[in-house]
Amino acid sequence: MIYETANTMKTKKLSLGIVGGGPNSWIGHVHRISARFDDRYEIVAGVFSRNSKLSISFGKSIGISKDRCYSNYKEMADKESKRNDCIKVVSIMTPPASHQVIAEKFIDKNIHIISDKPFAGNLDQAKKLYKKIKSNKKIKYALTHNYSSYPMVREAKVLIEKGKIGKVQYINVEYIQDWSGGTKITSKNAKKKLTWKIDNKIVGVSAVLNEIGTHAYHLASYISGLKGKQVFADIKQISNKIKMDDNAQVMINFTNGAKGMFWTNVMARGGVYGLKIRVFGSKGSLEWVQNNPGYLKLNPGKGAVKLLERGFHNAELSKKFSRIKFGHPEGYLDAFANIYKEFSDSLKTKSKKRFFYPNEDEGLETAKFINACKVSSKRKRWVKI
Ligand SMILES: NC(=O)c1ccc[n+]([C@@H]2O[C@H](COP(=O)([O-])OP(=O)(O)OC[C@H]3O[C@@H](n4cnc5c(N)ncnc54)[C@H](O)[C@@H]3O)[C@@H](O)[C@H]2O)c1
Repeated sequence: MIYETANTMKTKKLSLGIVGGGPNSWIGHVHRISARFDDRYEIVAGVFSRNSKLSISFGKSIGISKDRCYSNYKEMADKESKRNDCIKVVSIMTPPASHQVIAEKFIDKNIHIISDKPFAGNLDQAKKLYKKIKSNKKIKYALTHNYSSYPMVREAKVLIEKGKIGKVQYINVEYIQDWSGGTKITSKNAKKKLTWKIDNKIVGVSAVLNEIGTHAYHLASYISGLKGKQVFADIKQISNKIKMDDNAQVMINFTNGAKGMFWTNVMARGGVYGLKIRVFGSKGSLEWVQNNPGYLKLNPGKGAVKLLERGFHNAELSKKFSRIKFGHPEGYLDAFANIYKEFSDSLKTKSKKRFFYPNEDEGLETAKFINACKVSSKRKRWVKI
């Protein structure tokens, strides 16, 4: 596939509205910084919390004019769409089960969407949202599966497309987190510690899969270019008293016959943001670890392992997505900002070429994957994705 990459020319900023990401939301901060990183967007409107007082005071505190700090997303979509200077793009960073309804409201007003993952809370919502996006030719949609935006992840994708490791045969992804905060989670403190993550009406069909399993599946498909065909999943709840999925082991068969294994866990003590992917092909293999994101291990199969370095001469593509010279560390924010940068370029072109940023196609795929895992885990058998 031929991809479009973002250009470096500066043009008029895109006006951006925000839904979610209030005062204590870390990812809210990440979105706001990412949007500003390349001076492509200007945040001019928002609703930052379900609590309207908090939303308005927070909006004002980050410099948004009072008349564009809204009490809820419906009011924001309605009032913005009547303004001559209506926002061009809205970024959604609320909990999973609300992504669909919020996005649809803005799509109806012809406002482009950048949404955080998961695509939707469950497969039903995902299908509705996908249909809605496809039915409006005036809007574009980007999904912040941000791990796919690291320069060396994109380098890996292109190396595989060029056949450097041959036909992909095995993919292993490990993504573990520790939500315990170092203490024992009990039925008494679970609500305080895990908030909406223990409520399926808010987190959606599965906490561990909607929160991080979706990243594991997306990363594997993105790098390999393969879609999942079947899964055999084993999903575990933290306990009978706390109804939250905290561990998922997933065996997966891909469309080309490749096999994969994902391990995702949100209660792995000390397992702080351990994201790692290994892809093995008929000729060689690749390995990327988020904690050392500037490097990609390439084993061409015929000799010594090569360590490819971001921005260096042996990783040409990665230069396009690097803001920092090789040899200096680059990270999460830079990768996230690649989505904002490319999305603004995509809004300027009618080209049919795909950009590297994940969109609704990948969104629906991830929702199908999660749904199949839930069914498989319940029925204890292989299930089609
Ligand atoms: N891409 C990533 O790496 C990444 C990392 C963390 C979180 N996330 C995603 O971001 C989303 C939010 O997660 P979080 O950890 O920031 O949650 P959070 O609870 O810390 O923050 C959510 C914020 O949204 C606000 N909110 C909720 N419903 C709203 C509504 N209807 N209108 C306006 N504001 C509303 C809340 O008041 C809160 O400020 C989730 O979908 C999560 O999966 C993505």
